[in-house]
Amino acid sequence: MPIMGKEEINAVTRVLKSGILTGRLGSGPMAKQFEDNFAKFAEAKHAIAVNSGTAALHMSLWGKNITRGNEVILPSFTFIATAEAVALVGAKPVFVDIKPNTYNVDPEKIEPAITSKTRAIMPVDLYGLPAEMDKIREIADKHDLFVVEDAAQAHGSSYKSKPPGHFSDVACWSLYASKNMTTGEGGMLTTNNDEYAEKLRLLRSHGEKEEYKAALLGHNYRMPEIEAAIGIEQLKKLPTFAEKRRKNAENLTKKLGGLKRLVLPVEPRSCRSSWYLYTVRLRNGTVKDRDKVIHDLRKKGVGAGVYYHTPIHLMPYYRQLESYILPETEKAADQVFSLPVHPGLKDTEVNYVTKTVRQILR
Ligand SMILES: Cc1ncc(COP(=O)(O)O)c(C=O)c1O
Repeated sequence: MPIMGKEEINAVTRVLKSGILTGRLGSGPMAKQFEDNFAKFAEAKHAIAVNSGTAALHMSLWGKNITRGNEVILPSFTFIATAEAVALVGAKPVFVDIKPNTYNVDPEKIEPAITSKTRAIMPVDLYGLPAEMDKIREIADKHDLFVVEDAAQAHGSSYKSKPPGHFSDVACWSLYASKNMTTGEGGMLTTNNDEYAEKLRLLRSHGEKEEYKAALLGHNYRMPEIEAAIGIEQLKKLPTFAEKRRKNAENLTKKLGGLKRLVLPVEPRSCRSSWYLYTVRLRNGTVKDRDKVIHDLRKKGVGAGVYYHTPIHLMPYYRQLESYILPETEKAADQVFSLPVHPGLKDTEVNYVTKTVRQILR
């Protein structure tokens, strides 16, 4: 459940009373303000507000002219939108395996997947834990590749003390209702590249510099003013949300320690997770064992979930493009499950979650 207060309600009311519900050529006053605030938060030169994280990902590749005949390297263990963006621009998604302890793309698997057609690498900061961005940047520089970081789940995370986007060419954020901060639906791109940012602003609104004069092929990916007004308030609250998520995650880790069947999430020294999801793993478990645990937890009122049951390379659309064998990805998809960690969770509820997990896995 998103946490909304009187600040968001008042901000929405102000927009409704102002009569400015959107900005015709891109962003309206609220969206501009939100972009400025978000750019500061992400330590980026530019922030471009759009109407979903998927739109941000799509635009990130489109804005770089990545298209038919090109390849983009990405993990298969992510939300579908990461791969969708590649498919939507007509490029070929090339899936590589993950590291079993972090669930993030394994940098060592990237270089062997590079061909003369490769144009970009798309690491995902899965569950809010940053990918190994310095290593990925190094590979990209060596092969002259563009790096799009899917930071949809990573608001408040950092890698070597730098926020998402620092080591990449562009970071794509989601502001969907379940995210660490939300505008209901919404997204953001952050980049330090002036020319690219300018192009993204055009693409967002039909490629128009002037009304009814499209200079480029674009789309309507504009963020409505009501959403931007909510975003401004949510961004102010993000540090408090992040602190509560961290506290809940630390509490879960403390209280779930010592269970032989459970692998707890790691936070390597170079990383600060946003704890979007607290994801554990059933050691040596089959998909049936894991699903039974989920079933038992839900029966006892614990909102456990699986992110993600089916790796993208095994979904019908992608399977017909090319077949991949990604052992770590497939194993993780069978064994992981996530426990509640959201900032609305009280200490007593964390205690109930851990007590119930202990009973079930004893
Ligand atoms: C990893 C990842 N990428 C992309 C997206 C797409 O974002 P949206 O739902 O805002 O389109 C999401 C979230 O939904 C996500 O979790």
